[in-house]
Formats: sequence, C-alpha cells, structure tokens
Amino acid sequence: MAKFIIEGQQKLKGSIEVLGAKNAALIIITACCLLEGETTLENVPNILDIQKIINILEKMGVKFTRYHHQLKIDTTNLRKENPNPKLVGAIRASIVLVGPLLARFDQLNIPHPGGCTIGSRPIDLHIWALKQLGVAVKEVGKTYEFLKVKDLTKPVTITFPKISVGATENTILYACMQEQEIKIKNAAIEPEIIDLIDFLRKTGIKIKVASRTITINGQKQLKAVSHTIIPDRIEAGTFMILSAITKNPLKITGIRPDHLKILFEKFKEIGVDFDLGEDFAYIKKSEKILPTEISTAEYPGFPTDLQPPFGVLLTQAEGKSYIKENLFENRMGYLAELTKMGAKIELLSSTKAEITGLTPLKSAKIHSLDLRAGATLLIAALIASGTTEILQAENIDRGYEKIEERLKAIGSKIKRVK
Ligand code: EPZ
Repeated sequence: MAKFIIEGQQKLKGSIEVLGAKNAALIIITACCLLEGETTLENVPNILDIQKIINILEKMGVKFTRYHHQLKIDTTNLRKENPNPKLVGAIRASIVLVGPLLARFDQLNIPHPGGCTIGSRPIDLHIWALKQLGVAVKEVGKTYEFLKVKDLTKPVTITFPKISVGATENTILYACMQEQEIKIKNAAIEPEIIDLIDFLRKTGIKIKVASRTITINGQKQLKAVSHTIIPDRIEAGTFMILSAITKNPLKITGIRPDHLKILFEKFKEIGVDFDLGEDFAYIKKSEKILPTEISTAEYPGFPTDLQPPFGVLLTQAEGKSYIKENLFENRMGYLAELTKMGAKIELLSSTKAEITGLTPLKSAKIHSLDLRAGATLLIAALIASGTTEILQAENIDRGYEKIEERLKAIGSKIKRVK
C-alpha cells in the first residue's frame, strides 16, 4: 500500500488539464463487446479502474493496445465464457459487462460486483429491467446466472421505478442487439450515458433521447468505430474546487462547461468567481466564500461524486453550510477525516451534515477511504498547515491519472511513498 505525503499551503499557479471521463470510458469499453473488430478510443485515462476492466476482458480474448490515451480494442477473438469472478469482485463497473455479454452470447454467470464502499449498491434494478426483456435470472450462492430465454416479438417499454446509471447502461447495452424497439422511461441521462449513446449511434444503432426517455432500435451486427471519450466532469470539478479553496487562480482546461452547470451555479451563489471559455474555466481568487446547502441528485442535479470535494470547500465558507447525500448511504465518511484536520462538522444523520466555517485545516494522518473521498482529502491536505499523510493512495489512483505529478506541475509538494 502506498501513501501520499503532502506539504500544504504551497502557492499554486498555472493550468491543469482534465483527462477523459472514467465512467464514460469504462462503459464504452464494455460496449465494445457488442462489436466484432477493432475499435479505437481516444482520451482514455490511464487509471486503475480502466486497467481492471481491461484485465477482465483480456482473459476472455479481447486484445488491447494502448498508446498514451489512445486505446485500441480488438474483440475479434472474444470468447463466450464467464468473466473471472475474482477480477469482477475488484470493480463495481464490471456489472455493466452483463448487458453486452448477454446480448452477444445469450448466457452469463457473474458474481456480485465489488467496488468502493460508498453504500450497499444493490443490482435489483439491473435484474428487474433485464427480466422485462426476456432474460431469466437466478441467484446461486453469490453468483447471478443470466439466461436469454426468448427473443422479443414486440416492442417493450420499461419504466424504472428509480433512476440508476448502471441499470440504464446495462439495459441500453442489452437492447442494442434486440430487433424490437425498446423504450426506457425514467432513465439516467448523465453525460457519460449520452457519450455511450453517441458511441453506439456511430456503430449503426438508432437511439433517441427525449427528456428521460431513451428509445433503442437495435440490430444484430454493429460496426467497429472510432470515438473520443468526453472529459471527466468530476475531475474538472475537483480541480476547480482546489483552486477555490487555495485561493490560487488556476485555469482548468479540456473541460465541457455544459456538464457542470450546477457547480457553476453554486460557485456564483457562494462567491467563487470564474471566467468560462468553450473548453476551460479560469477560477479567480475569491475574497470571501459564503455558506450554502447542497443536496445530491441524479444529473442534472448536484453530483454525488462532487459532494465530498464540495464539503472541503464549505469548511472555507464563512458560516453554517448543510450537505444532504441522497444517493449513497456511506458517503459522509470523509467528514470524520476532515474533522481530524480541524474542520467543524456535525453529523445530523448518516446522510446529512452541518459544516461550520471558516476553519483553517491542519495536518493529520488520514485514510483515503474511497476514490472520491481520497481525492477530497488530497485537496484538503493542500490547504492544511504542516505535513499530511494520506494512506491507501491506490484508492485515488483508481480514478485520477498520475495525480501527484499533475499537482506537482502546478506547484504543490506531494510525494508518493511505497
Ligand atoms: C454510477 O454508479 C457511477 N459509477 C458512480 O461513480 C456514481 O456515483 C453513480 O453512478 C451516481 O452518479 C460508474 O459509472 C462506474 P446508480 P452506479 O445505479 O451505476 C441505487 C465514482 O466515484 N440502486 O445510479 O452504481 C443505488 O444504491 C462513482 O466514479 C438500486 O437501488 O449508481 C443508489 O442509491 C462511485 N438498485 C442509486 O440507485 C440498483 O439496482 C444510484 O445508483 C442500482 C442502483
């Protein structure tokens, strides 16, 4: 296990480039299982989670060739076999292998996926949706057995009782190879899902998106294509918050401002000033940060993945702020670590907290807990006095490429120790 050692309160300056979206790249790599031949993806971040999905598919015959951020994926020799259970257990996103592999091979056994500890993360909605598309699902011990029992003979409409990113993705991917129209209502419409849809359209699938309804007219053969992954909106938001908390103006480049409207609205409300270009944000020095309330929601609401970094920002706001987490029940753990650093935080319930600022942060020995909590504590350490140690650096590597090198390039003092 590696750790980061950070000497806080350094002057930061310059610009930092945002890389491709982890969650778009993950799902589009799994979507490649629907195609035969070589697909080229650009802007694929070189991070642990992507490597884990590659490891699973390599074992099943898929060939990957990486050149910097370009990833070539050749599925010509993809075999009909079950993904390695141990590897599946290492990453939550492996659940979205179900849709494409089942569409291709009609049968699949897979254990409950692993991933970070932000909540119980059931897969009942994935199973419920696939059952409506003619799939039988049996749970045998810790393994789910999926079996396509029939081809659809008429169009199907599925209305999700609750919005789920992964369940929407799995349903879209399975629907791509069905020859009847499938309508998904109350679908998730995160930018990563729209990127997946843009990719699938290039392969020949007809997909329409109208508000929260996605209509898919699939086909049996999809052609291999080239596609560029969208920028990571969570990484972009994290770097912008870094600039705001350090009061060091930074230019965050390679972004899609339209994916971050809710964050910019909040910035305006609390006095974080910025200029926006077509693909960059320049965060200016704010004199005073005002308190606020945030409540996480599905896109276009406030992203749960930006809730922890925004929590650090609120420790620097003057007054009482409130955070309500509505998606994952264990996403407040980072607050205990921030308290060790001197933040004044009261947990009002397991998903609601009051943060009283402005509190200077001080160094501590802290745990990165999960991917987003880890990145959050890293930016907190950059404003803390003294030297902070963040344990389990690998949690951060899951989603942020060469994070210490990129932060060092803008002036921070950070070291990785094995
Ligand atoms: C995706 O997770 C992302 N992961 C998460 O990113 C992100 O936080 C989340 O969407 C919400 O935006 C990937 O794309 C790989 P959900 P997912 O299904 O698909 C409940 C990160 O750090 N639910 O939309 O697992 C669930 O418990 C991460 O990059 C069910 O009840 O999220 C949660 O309360 C972590 N039954 C809510 O729905 C189900 O079958 C939303 O979960 C599925 C989900």
